[in-house]
Amino acid sequence: MPQVTAQREPAETSPAVDSRSPFVRLTDLIAGLTPGKPVINLSVGEPQHPVPPFVGPVLAAHIADFGRYPANKGIEPFRNAVAQWLGRRYKLPRPVDAETEVLVLNGTREGLFLAAISAVRWVGPRAGPPAVLIPNPFYAAYAAGALAAGCEPVYLPATRTSGFLPDLDALDDALLARTVAFYIASPSNPQGAVADRAYLERLAALARRFGFLVFADECYCEIYSEHKPAGMLECSGPDFANVVVFHSLSKRSNLPGLRVGFAAGDKNFLGPYLELRNVAAPQVPTPAQHVAIAAYGDEKHVEENRELYSAKFDLADQIVGDRYGYERPAGGFFLWLDVSKQGGSEVVTKRLWQEAGVRVVPGRYLAREQADGTNPGADYIRVAMVQDKAATAEALHRIVAVLG
Ligand SMILES: Cc1ncc(COP(=O)(O)O)c(C=O)c1O
Repeated sequence: MPQVTAQREPAETSPAVDSRSPFVRLTDLIAGLTPGKPVINLSVGEPQHPVPPFVGPVLAAHIADFGRYPANKGIEPFRNAVAQWLGRRYKLPRPVDAETEVLVLNGTREGLFLAAISAVRWVGPRAGPPAVLIPNPFYAAYAAGALAAGCEPVYLPATRTSGFLPDLDALDDALLARTVAFYIASPSNPQGAVADRAYLERLAALARRFGFLVFADECYCEIYSEHKPAGMLECSGPDFANVVVFHSLSKRSNLPGLRVGFAAGDKNFLGPYLELRNVAAPQVPTPAQHVAIAAYGDEKHVEENRELYSAKFDLADQIVGDRYGYERPAGGFFLWLDVSKQGGSEVVTKRLWQEAGVRVVPGRYLAREQADGTNPGADYIRVAMVQDKAATAEALHRIVAVLG
């Protein structure tokens, strides 16, 4: 495989690089264009499945807690609930210590962003300009965090030929020696690729050898086709050294508006990370943490959720079939469709909007140009399977009718 060539920071901050949110760019792209049919929005990864029934009663029972500032670390019962859930969900080498190895987050986005800032202080001097390694395409907070931390974001192509994950063989020692953090999402957004245990073990070993951190974004871990995705904590040794996992209730429990997630892993990192969070991070309202305790104690709504996604992927199997390089993803809730023959990501996004009223995200906006000028998302559109079955089926029929 070709070696990964670093892309320098000035390129990232130059006017030629549009680092705005993909959704802002999408809004600009279709501004002034009239949707051809009643709109079906499959752009944002915001599940439209029902909010679990326990949310209202639990919030009501803890309403008085809105009268207090929440502690940044999270209440002890929340951290205990998380540690126990991790123990049930994964084959861990030992139980997670709720006191030192779990922190509540106000959703994972802020946690992923702030983690890079903390990491650059934690890792100490690097053998060269500090770099943050990011799969390409990627979730926007990773690159924003890398830049805020004063690091060079180095984009690792995650294409069909590399199994839609960064190719670990393509990383040379000089790059790894100046790496501060490596973000990895499994299941990945947008492609739905799942890293197996061997991949995660290898990444954890590289992190220990070169002294960087792995930030494993596992927010889609409960949405999968057949096999439960492995987790980074299972693959990193007894001290969870050099790894931190990020989890969220936004996708698992259809609660993107609750803003609750957590970070768990290497306590040597979580300590200084909490220090930064104590002065800079949004706290999580205590009533929301109580809802989260109920959510992590209940698997029924998670199973129902997974079945609903599975039924929608059955629809994609039938309606999309083998068009646009579609294959049912191992995890996550996106279709990542190759529309290079239909004109590429932006042309197709506009056509779907104008001719079908279907709103999708151009893959180009979820990725960055590599040093060789290619953009690994340019041939693709991302379709979020977040609507109900009827709307999803209708949207998929419309997509096929437009694209052929
Ligand atoms: C890959 C990935 N990571 C993190 C997040 C952040 O989710 P939240 O902040 O709601 O936990 C998202 C949201 O879409 C995502 O797709």
